[in-house]
Amino acid sequence: MRDAASAHTLDPGGYEAELRRHDQVLRRACGVRLHDHVLDVGCGAGQTTRQAARTARAGGALGVDISAPAIERARELARAEGLRNVTFEHADAQVHRFPQQRFDLAISRFGTMFFEDPVAAFTNIGRALRPAGHLVMMVWQSSERNEWIVAIRRALAGSEGSGAAASAGPDPFSLADAVTVRQTLDAAGFADIAFSEVREPVYYGPDVAAALDWVRGFACTGETLNGQDPAAAARTVARLRETLSAHLRDDGVWFDSRAWIITARRP
Ligand SMILES: C[S@@+](CC[C@H](N)C(=O)[O-])C[C@H]1O[C@@H](n2cnc3c(N)ncnc32)[C@H](O)[C@@H]1O
Repeated sequence: MRDAASAHTLDPGGYEAELRRHDQVLRRACGVRLHDHVLDVGCGAGQTTRQAARTARAGGALGVDISAPAIERARELARAEGLRNVTFEHADAQVHRFPQQRFDLAISRFGTMFFEDPVAAFTNIGRALRPAGHLVMMVWQSSERNEWIVAIRRALAGSEGSGAAASAGPDPFSLADAVTVRQTLDAAGFADIAFSEVREPVYYGPDVAAALDWVRGFACTGETLNGQDPAAAARTVARLRETLSAHLRDDGVWFDSRAWIITARRP
């Protein structure tokens, strides 16, 4: 099973901080209710799964993730909180045999952009939803509309012309195009497909040093630095530091970002 979790997914504190503004919007959009059974797709360390379980006190939440370490961390955190109505499974959501028509709501915070076959994956998720059940997922808009990745790629590339390309790993921008996503969800059997724009900044840390640490955890940063000799890597880090300094405000380092909340219903 492919393990797509990054160090960031396993660092729930940092990831929660980065996405804290997004999280409030997603939570409102999900609208979890007391009796709901919620499926959290690509749940990582389970922050959104635990959030859902706290509201669905008479129902429950299942988080699935393709990363075994992420699921282990999610279980630890849920145990530490004493939550009894939340479970986690190490599974590929594209093919996992979920109980059919079990869930009222499938949610995801940036966990659905990495499927090898999106139509197959969303068909599989749809089967797990009861009729009239909802899908609510947050995904990135295109890289060009996300200041954070534009700025980081520019700093990585510098004038040396290397490292500007997207990471060779899974593509976090694969669900950016509304027309393609609509076709995908339609082919997967969903109805009432709708998009709402989320324009909230991402937070990288209280100061430049902390933000640099965080950005060094990005796959594209690691790949670039690993491919450079020590002198070139030092210049790349200096450019990243400069970029982060330019985004330092009184309350930390922030970059503009654009995401979609995509909602759909199983007929
Ligand atoms: C950007 S992280 C988001 C994690 C979590 N939703 C959060 O917001 O904290 C994306 C997650 O999707 C998971 N993932 C990728 N492909 C998956 C698949 N086919 N099935 C289940 N999880 C998957 C990764 O392992 C990773 O934990």
